[in-house]
Amino acid sequence: MIPVNEPVIGEREYDYVMECLRTGWISSAGRFIDEFEQKWASYCGMKYGVAVSNGTTALQVAAGCLDLKPGDEVIMPSFTIISCALAVVDNGGVPVLVDSEPRTWCMDVSQVEAKITHRTRAIMPVHIYGHPVDMDPVLALAGKHHLVVIEDAAEVHGAQYLSGRGTASPTWRRCGGIGDLSAFSFYANKLITTGEGGMVLTNDAAYAEQARALRNLAFRPERRFYHTHLGYNFRLTNLQAAVGVAQMERMEYIIAKKRWMGQAYTERLKDIPTIQLPVEEQWARQVYWMYGLVLNESTGLDATDFARQLEYAGVQTRPFFLGMHEQPVFLERGLFSGERYPVAERIARQGLYLPSGVALTESQLDQVCEAVHKVLT
Ligand SMILES: Cc1ncc(COP(=O)(O)O)c(C=O)c1O
Repeated sequence: MIPVNEPVIGEREYDYVMECLRTGWISSAGRFIDEFEQKWASYCGMKYGVAVSNGTTALQVAAGCLDLKPGDEVIMPSFTIISCALAVVDNGGVPVLVDSEPRTWCMDVSQVEAKITHRTRAIMPVHIYGHPVDMDPVLALAGKHHLVVIEDAAEVHGAQYLSGRGTASPTWRRCGGIGDLSAFSFYANKLITTGEGGMVLTNDAAYAEQARALRNLAFRPERRFYHTHLGYNFRLTNLQAAVGVAQMERMEYIIAKKRWMGQAYTERLKDIPTIQLPVEEQWARQVYWMYGLVLNESTGLDATDFARQLEYAGVQTRPFFLGMHEQPVFLERGLFSGERYPVAERIARQGLYLPSGVALTESQLDQVCEAVHKVLT
């Protein structure tokens, strides 16, 4: 079976983890935490990094920085992982949904303005499967309506977005370095991993301070065990950060490998008329976190049937997200009742992603493409 993902762990990871073990810095203080936070923030073009235990807690902490009042709204795509909506609900807010854009599968930014009300506090664009959201319209709306932008950059390590198109000075910016706050995941299937892990980035010193407090039980600096707020224990360990620092040293190689993989898949699959492949818009440098396919309904197959047939051929896949408006847990709470998002609904049923890990070899990729051809032609 060709696995959907396999992490690559190098010698450096062993060396740095051994250093933690030998020196006893195994909890959430130590040189690797500081180094990982500083290096990742600076790589993404942000000032402050706050390492946390995973991408979900990164979103919870980022949303926690907004001090939402009950009923405050945050606009996000329906087509995302539950972590986004959970982070808002957990902080007393209400997620408000928009549909996806059919080419990139990212939030359809043209639908955001119609969802802004006097309760809207933030927009949460989610960069999907390695491709950036079109951020300029999001930033413009946020500026116009005084909203905070929280980027969910869990799936786009190193991806770039061309900001300011049509102006005298367009600039490439890294995803996760564009909004007021951003959240990353370093789960084992991400471009760089710490096993489990996450990070909040921001340029705002007050947000950074609040994120650090929320991550660490809201301890106050003036007196240990004295609390004015409720926080969490969402700390990352120095052991995990050591793995992250080692992984970061291979960032350029990893991005090059992912971009090779994406282009190689496209080259081999582009002639199949019944599948939609990932795109790269002119204003994007995408990193193919996962190589997704959306199957045309005319095949008579949905993603579940397709996945089963690929599995017989030795190819592991994963289904696309199921939209937040189709989640019983939210419908039971009276959220999203009767709402429809046709693009999210279609890609949720017809979409899956192929083996896409950094360890994927060319011969595995050839085998995967052969299997896809066999099932579909
Ligand atoms: C878009 C997005 N946001 C958040 C997360 C949550 O990250 P974690 O699994 O580290 O909690 C994920 C996980 O894959 C994700 O894909």
